[in-house]
Amino acid sequence: MAKSLTRYVCQSCGYVSPRWIGKCPNCSEWNTFVEEATTPASARRTTAMPSKLDPIPISEVEANEAPRMRIGMDEFDRVLGGGLVAGSLVLLGGDPGIGKSTLMMQMALRLKEQIVFYVTGEESVRQIKLRADRLEAGATKHIQLLAETNLDLILDVIERTEPDLVIIDSIQTMYRPGLESAPGSVSQVRESTALLLRLAKTRGIPIFVIGHVTKEGVIAGPRVIEHMVDTVLQFEGEAHYSYRMLRALKNRFGSTNEIGIFEMHDTGLREVLNPSEVFLAERHYGASGSTVVASIEGSRPILVEVQALVTPTNYGMPQRTTSGVDFRRLALLLAVLDKRAGLNVGQHDVFVNIAGGIKIEEPALDLGIAISIVSSLRDVPVDSSSVAVGEIGLGGEIRTISQIEKRVQEAAKLGFKRIVVPQNNRKALKPTGEIEIIGVDRMEKAVEALLG
Ligand code: TYD
Ligand code: MG
Repeated sequence: MAKSLTRYVCQSCGYVSPRWIGKCPNCSEWNTFVEEATTPASARRTTAMPSKLDPIPISEVEANEAPRMRIGMDEFDRVLGGGLVAGSLVLLGGDPGIGKSTLMMQMALRLKEQIVFYVTGEESVRQIKLRADRLEAGATKHIQLLAETNLDLILDVIERTEPDLVIIDSIQTMYRPGLESAPGSVSQVRESTALLLRLAKTRGIPIFVIGHVTKEGVIAGPRVIEHMVDTVLQFEGEAHYSYRMLRALKNRFGSTNEIGIFEMHDTGLREVLNPSEVFLAERHYGASGSTVVASIEGSRPILVEVQALVTPTNYGMPQRTTSGVDFRRLALLLAVLDKRAGLNVGQHDVFVNIAGGIKIEEPALDLGIAISIVSSLRDVPVDSSSVAVGEIGLGGEIRTISQIEKRVQEAAKLGFKRIVVPQNNRKALKPTGEIEIIGVDRMEKAVEALLG
């Protein structure tokens, strides 16, 4: 009798069943069974076990800074933590159509000295070629294409040809023939990732894996592979804007709060090296409801314009809409403004937006959001040569924020005359001749300083 090669494992408690069952008899969770290979076919590929396993003293471990391959796109290299580490497995997630394949192909085109292996399970080699031509004309022999979804075959080719970099587009289309489940299922995605991980580590080949994000915003084949890979990058942007943000959600080789900013053109992605100027370029001077805020993304300050529109509700429930800022944060700020500053917007619709389609989740934005709301409600413009930063506490107090020097410098660099900062931050700052720094401890003071 043929021995079953798969089993079903409860993802909640690890209970094993030979068949799929809906409810786990052990932990009573529903729908937690996932097919897994019994002898993970991956085991086949293990290198010979050392005859004797000994622990090594930590002092004897060689730990040179891992050598990094620079991609040559500063925005990308910075998000990776200063270049690509040999043997690392990087997951690039993002909505369909956001530009993941484009980013990967542009990276491949840059690495002219390396042999880059582009595995496509979604598009034909012809489509890939057309995209590459659109991005950069000319012969690019260093990029090798392979249209295949059977991972066992792909791994054989990689082991045989030993490229310098591998791109898998996308992990959801890859499958292992030993498993019954369809490509894209949890077990297929996980098994495939495990094999790629082993390959990356044993051969020292860096591998990029593209993954689609589901509607809920998680990388499909869910978190199961996020913990296996070294780095999780997210490529995001608003559908109607050309700006794209590359974020590290996890990075074993660098910081996770760096972001890289790109702009999609008809000839591919272009790096945005001066984000503040770009995001402020279309600022409309003298309009109410607009405040410039100095935000920090990773190690870099970015000035953005926070816009608010407050209008009387015509009928029914007042609306609250945000784009680029956290919706719950807005609700909280409105409650604080109501309770602590007597600003009643119970009969008003409130819309808050960050111009340019960038998304920022940083409490230092609070003051700018609040000022924009007050400005729009009163229809008084905010002083256009001023910047505001500060977190607002539940008591209406303005709280200390991080990296204040960088924010002040960036505002000064772009020619702003004044910056309103939390009082406690003000005390720690040395006055500069370039920009007036105003410390505030309460909302009212900030309103006074900016709305006159
Ligand atoms: P793509 O990289 O195929 O997205 P993904 O792999 O994330 O699904 O890019 C999709 C979009 O990018 C597509 O709508 C066309 C657009 N695009 C440009 O605007 N300019 C370009 O040079 C390229 C190659 C694509
Ligand atoms: Mg694609």
